[in-house]
Amino acid sequence: MIQAEDRRFHQHAGVDWAIASPAPALRHRQGVGCAALRYSVHRIRRADATITGVAPIISVSNLSKTYASGFQALKSINLDIRRAEIFALLGPNGAGKTTLISIICGIVNPSEGAVSVDGHDIVAAYRTVRSMIGLVPQELTTDAFETVWATVTFSRGLFGKPANPGYIEKVLKDLSLWDKKDSKVMTLSGGMKRRLLIAKALSHEPQILFLDEPTAGVDVELRKDMWQVVRTLRASGVTIILTTHYIEEAEEMADRIGVIAKGEIILVERKDELMRKLGKKQLVLQLHNRLTGIPPNLAVYGLEVNADGSELMYTYDTRAERTGISALLKDLSTAGIVFTDLNTTQSSLEDIFVDLVRKSK
Ligand SMILES: Nc1ncnc2c1ncn2[C@@H]1O[C@H](COP(=O)(O)OP(=O)(O)OP(=O)(O)O)[C@@H](O)[C@H]1O
Ligand SMILES: [Mg+2]
Repeated sequence: MIQAEDRRFHQHAGVDWAIASPAPALRHRQGVGCAALRYSVHRIRRADATITGVAPIISVSNLSKTYASGFQALKSINLDIRRAEIFALLGPNGAGKTTLISIICGIVNPSEGAVSVDGHDIVAAYRTVRSMIGLVPQELTTDAFETVWATVTFSRGLFGKPANPGYIEKVLKDLSLWDKKDSKVMTLSGGMKRRLLIAKALSHEPQILFLDEPTAGVDVELRKDMWQVVRTLRASGVTIILTTHYIEEAEEMADRIGVIAKGEIILVERKDELMRKLGKKQLVLQLHNRLTGIPPNLAVYGLEVNADGSELMYTYDTRAERTGISALLKDLSTAGIVFTDLNTTQSSLEDIFVDLVRKSK
């Protein structure tokens, strides 16, 4: 467990750095790096909307938030969420994720702009909108002296839904809380409390579920169970919006990913498309004879040799018209370099973001 947490910490640190930086670069370097990417993303989004022709379930227009302190947490956000998708909102601490979710759920008032949920304005039709939404808040707030069963049943009642013990039982079982149904909330562990928040959010059978940092403090095994619950919900038509610092989580779960930094959405893209378009691949060749340097006729490929000269690495762009692999293999043969094995690796989402930042500098 300690190791797993360590790993998350390192990723966390990496992600914060990786995502925090593009925003200013975007503003100042239009037409290159990230700015070019943003342009293409916007074009794709519009094209997507036309092709699918389905109205988004949530539509956020020119949404800004300035807190009473004068701090501007959101800057003119435009975002559409599609029905029954899993949308991951990815961004570092303080990016504005919780603020955005809180506005959509009617907990925080927007300063400018509008949000509609299934065609209803969130301010004019507050009750209708709220009853469609389940919210798993980032902060643990629990009624310590109640039992698990009573807490979840009460939550359902708050939304005016008739009692349905069978449904509550299913929710508790799905979240591995059934054996704790008669325990007082104060006796639950941190991870169990977080799962209880999910059970509460699902108690009134919402069409939309917001999960704000749902896996903080939840162990690896249970995290997997939670994702299974989320996938099952999506399959039944529920739209899911989750926030996370962890690219790993977005990569595993999301259909689409939105990256938010310093109150601005800097990227919205289908996960697979994002990876396909931006992913670098690396070809690694295991050499028959060790190399001490790169022969001059291979200089154009920007090859790298590992420390002991036994491997040759070629990084290529999957987006390019030509990857250069055939030419490279031909030139290797001409140079008399023989390899015994080869493999390719594709960048992870994290590599992609680190790469974005490097390019935008
Ligand atoms: N009530 C408030 N008054 C003033 N500033 C606030 C308030 N709530 C949030 N902020 C500020 O707005 C910014 C965005 O906060 P928010 O909680 O939305 O970030 P977040 O992306 O959810 O971060 P985290 O990943 O740490 O949860 C932060 O700089 C925060 O300090
Ligand atoms: Mg937050």
